[in-house]
Amino acid sequence: MAKNNILKHLAIIMDGNGRWAKNQGKKRTEGHKVGAEVVREITTYCANHETIETLTLYAFSTENWKRPKAEVSFLMKLLDNYLRKELDVYMREDVRFETVGDISAFSDKLKKTISETKEVTKNNKKLTQVLALNYGSRDEIVRAANRVIKNNEKLTEESLSAALDSPYTDIDLMIRTSGEQRLSNFLLWQLSYSELYFTDTLWPDFKSDELESIIDEFYGRERKFGGI
Ligand code: IPE
Ligand code: IPE
Ligand code: MG
Repeated sequence: MAKNNILKHLAIIMDGNGRWAKNQGKKRTEGHKVGAEVVREITTYCANHETIETLTLYAFSTENWKRPKAEVSFLMKLLDNYLRKELDVYMREDVRFETVGDISAFSDKLKKTISETKEVTKNNKKLTQVLALNYGSRDEIVRAANRVIKNNEKLTEESLSAALDSPYTDIDLMIRTSGEQRLSNFLLWQLSYSELYFTDTLWPDFKSDELESIIDEFYGRERKFGGI
């Protein structure tokens, strides 16, 4: 039975690139390359969806620095290339680009690409694509609390929410690919009342038709927010 759920903010933990590559007998980096193509398909789908306003994608966590140096630098280069190449798509699909996470840790070159992409796309209206980059929820909450303290504000749910990197709407639906059923430090505050969906599909195999069927299933859920 339809429950009149409206999907405005979708978040995805894009996981399984390495396993996908291993299954194909390829290097992990090949999985990340194909994963970037999937980001384009899913973003385009969301931009053309009637109600989705924000798509938040977990791209690099504060813990991902633990990976081998070569993989980390590949991911940084891939991100820079992706943003440069993607500008046409952001403009064509009317997508605004934003980030959450502490990007101060990135190279000057990457920081410049990120800020230029934000600047050029800032008036786009159909969708805001938020990439979570060097993102960790605990790190975000601590940085937000420090901002509140620095501004001499009283610490409340409202002041803390407003000080987060992600002052976007609450998340309606969060999907994680690859079969792992955990949050891995993703949006702990913002996911308080989100619907969660875990699929075994590895991120490079994730397609918009699967997203569509997950959204259909979400429409049938009953969200109670503590009420009856
Ligand atoms: C997700 O895929 C991409 C990033 C975390 C950057 P993984 O690289 O975590 O792939 P698996 O989990 O090893 O298969
Ligand atoms: C979460 O995936 C981070 C991103 C998708 C960017 P991980 O692969 O890093 O998470 P764990 O280590 O399996 O929890
Ligand atoms: Mg993983």
